[in-house]
Amino acid sequence: MAREKGEDEQTAAVLIPTDPSPQSLHAAAARCRACPLWERGTQTVFGEGPMGAPLFLIGEQPGDDEDRKGHPFVGPAGRVLDKALEAAGLSRKDAYVTNIVKHFKWIPKGKLRLHQKPNAREIKACLPWLEAEINLVRPRVLVAMGATAAQGLLGKQVRVTRDRGKFFPAEFAPQATVTVHPSSILRSRTDEERHLAMQSFIEDLARIAEFLRG
Ligand code: URA
Repeated sequence: MAREKGEDEQTAAVLIPTDPSPQSLHAAAARCRACPLWERGTQTVFGEGPMGAPLFLIGEQPGDDEDRKGHPFVGPAGRVLDKALEAAGLSRKDAYVTNIVKHFKWIPKGKLRLHQKPNAREIKACLPWLEAEINLVRPRVLVAMGATAAQGLLGKQVRVTRDRGKFFPAEFAPQATVTVHPSSILRSRTDEERHLAMQSFIEDLARIAEFLRG
């Protein structure tokens, strides 16, 4: 993971239970104050999915819907993800789904809560939760969706547009790969652009399905 040794101060590392279970890890994360985002978010949105899931999907941070409901990828981006997984022959039921940052970062704009990108300090503070989740789930492949997750997981040198679909050795799992964030598909300017972006996302996921079958 893209973290230097000796960087555990001001991170969630001290909050990780010894020999955690999914329940004890989730409960500890619910009390996390390792960075200031806990003040803004409604709740910690922890990862979900079966232990032993071969596929481990990592997004950026919960969005507005996820923050209110307390579950990852249950809003518009989650619907794109579900559709693409299905088209690629994968099922959300068999995947563990989480985010690299577990609180929603936003600023008010009228009645809206506008998403803000998490900064390096917030990502670093949250990484121990992700490491603990990976250690519990023991997946075969980590999939970082979007630049924030890709660079947090694999380092600043990763570029999603250049490196999508490639497989990398990872620290806590046999392989890691990167693809776009499903919300980037929602931001397409035209129907044609959206269609092409969705097709490419499905192709990346289909390559992962093939890897998992192999
Ligand atoms: N975007 C993310 O990165 N994660 C979510 O859980 C929802 C939207």
